[in-house]
Amino acid sequence: MNTVLKIAALSGLVFCQTTLLGAPLYKKPKLPVETRVEDLLSRMTLHEKVMQLNQYVHGTNMNLHNIGKIDDHYPLEAGSYIYYSQDPKMRNDLQKRVLKETRLGIPAVFAHDVTHGFRTIYPMPLAQAASGNPELVEKVCAMAASESRLSGTDWTFSPMLDVARDPRWGRITETFGEDPYMNSIFGVATVKGYQGNDLSSPEHMAACLKHFVGYGATQGGRDYRQTDISDNDLWNVHLVPFKACVDAGAATLMSAFNDINGVPSTANRHTLTEILRDRWNFNGVTISDWASVSQLKDYQSTASTYAEAAVQSLLAGVDIDMCSGCYSSTLDSLVNAGVIPIKRIDDAVRSVLRLKFRLGLFERPYTPEISRDKRLMTPWNLSIAEKMAEESMVLLKNDQNVLPLSHKKIAVIGPAATDKRAMYGEWFSHGDIDDATSLLDGIMQEFKGVAEVMYAKGCDFDGEERSGFAEAIKTAAEADVVILCMGERGNWSCENNSRAEIAIPGIQRELIKEFKNSGKPLVLALTSGRPVNLSDIEPVVDAIIEVWQPGIRGGNALGGILSGRVNPSGKLPVTFPRTPAQIPLYYGIRRGARFSPHGDYKDIPSTPLYEFGHGLSYSTFEYGEITADKTQFKQNDELTLSVEVRNTSDRDGAEIIHWYISDPVSSTVRPIKELKHFEKKYIKSGDRQVFTFKINPLRDLSILDKNGNVIIEPGDFIVSVKDKTIRLSLE
Ligand code: GLC
Repeated sequence: MNTVLKIAALSGLVFCQTTLLGAPLYKKPKLPVETRVEDLLSRMTLHEKVMQLNQYVHGTNMNLHNIGKIDDHYPLEAGSYIYYSQDPKMRNDLQKRVLKETRLGIPAVFAHDVTHGFRTIYPMPLAQAASGNPELVEKVCAMAASESRLSGTDWTFSPMLDVARDPRWGRITETFGEDPYMNSIFGVATVKGYQGNDLSSPEHMAACLKHFVGYGATQGGRDYRQTDISDNDLWNVHLVPFKACVDAGAATLMSAFNDINGVPSTANRHTLTEILRDRWNFNGVTISDWASVSQLKDYQSTASTYAEAAVQSLLAGVDIDMCSGCYSSTLDSLVNAGVIPIKRIDDAVRSVLRLKFRLGLFERPYTPEISRDKRLMTPWNLSIAEKMAEESMVLLKNDQNVLPLSHKKIAVIGPAATDKRAMYGEWFSHGDIDDATSLLDGIMQEFKGVAEVMYAKGCDFDGEERSGFAEAIKTAAEADVVILCMGERGNWSCENNSRAEIAIPGIQRELIKEFKNSGKPLVLALTSGRPVNLSDIEPVVDAIIEVWQPGIRGGNALGGILSGRVNPSGKLPVTFPRTPAQIPLYYGIRRGARFSPHGDYKDIPSTPLYEFGHGLSYSTFEYGEITADKTQFKQNDELTLSVEVRNTSDRDGAEIIHWYISDPVSSTVRPIKELKHFEKKYIKSGDRQVFTFKINPLRDLSILDKNGNVIIEPGDFIVSVKDKTIRLSLE
């Protein structure tokens, strides 16, 4: 091409890249995001692109389990930060420097682990799942998004969608339990709550699906370990919630620490590219977990250098390196050496720029600096946090209907009574434990003027100190009923906190047994982030309420349940084994070659102490038969099944019903039953409600084969609700 033509082409290029007003296209908010992305990308140098693929820490790291040196000497071209402040000023000060002191002024995005609240802390995700109320979960997540975005956090590393079936794993508390469908429903509700309909809204933030994938299958419940996952389980268990949340529009996704059958999740092209990008068409950002790129060299040893680790991770499909320094220190030279194609860099940068445009950061790079009382812990926030706690608690046992209490002298005993840290669990972001209502506070507020409440700690959560026993026994002797507030410390269920015995520590169990012959009704209020081995306590107490880690108004919620102001409605999202020796133990097991009791343990029971879906109410409900608008159907039909439930008690109450399907004859062995729908309805005393399940056969009756293809097989299917069943036939 001769010089004249070149100049003409160049000037034409320059002209089409700027408007008549001279501003570059990427700065024009009315243009399509993809146009702005391409324009900005075309202006970036290699180094500017690479820096967008690195995340640093801004502020003081709050996660004690994060390893490695915290690099706080970061370049202003960094694409994103984990932000550890609850005030926007620190973020705005840094953002001003980014916009003024870098060549293109690409705004940074600020992330944080907001997993069950930012400052208003609501129950842990496992407890939220027990509520059976995804609409309420969406509300509390929208509240958390508002507190976060108005405080300078644009992006949260939540929801955690790891299907968890081993209560020895401390992170089970961060999941929505053992069932893929339940994790899907609550994961989608969480994504919708965080993201709303417009990520650029000043009160919404980007969600992050984690940890992709299979982290919940960590061997022996020991954290950070290998996972051995069959194709059947990969497709029909672990990928299910991620697919649901990708389809719901989640903006980002995080790779996991674990390997899958020997291939690290952070270097797993099959999951991160072939499935996530090529099959699911995910066009959001993928980020590693903390230092999981450098761990490919330092621990999993699939790489012998950090450069190799960067190559493995980036080419597998991880866009951003979280805090390991591998990408920032090696990518420029790897591209210049032709080891990494610039196309892969460009695709990763496109994802990051797309996120920033969708968040509206180019138009609003700064967070308005409004006072805390106007953005944190508003009365509305506190009220929905309390309702979330009320609906998440599970009444596991209530012999002789000892609850609700009608007693006049109540003894409150145990270390969890006043321990506010136990209300919050882990990952409580900017929550201040002093804000929390302790269990004792809640009980005293609830029964003020109604009953006398006495307290004695009795013992600590663990240790050997028994000096408090005598006072506790004396206090109980003066009361009509004893509320035992026992369980886990707030940091016992979390990352890097695997526990083999999953039992309440011996000192607490010993104290509980001291009341065995007290002649007083004993009510255990259990604070835990996971299923707990209750086998030697359950026979001693008359009632058990799983309080979980109930958040800022947990004490109020427990008070309401004890008094009867709140009718408990929670159902377990995870199985409670009698002993860890039974693990793995979950409801969705496949049919065996023989049926129980053939194959059961000969020395201990093979049944759980409390099964998935267990939960009592103060009301009693009677179920009618399941009816269907048709029982013969074709695969593209839709069927409507109904069941009528009547509240036969004198108390209004809410009931959650689970709809299960099973396939009596299938080409591969399927689970004995599979949860495919659940619904919660409030039913007034003496009234009835009709619950419906609209079956979409391809969605609800199919299975995925080892390649992830949907398989639906003609023949009969059984649908069940409690002990009611109906047989359907697919032609
Ligand atoms: C942690 C966790 C992850 C979290 C990340 C950032 O190690 O595995 O869930 O989002 O680091 O704090």
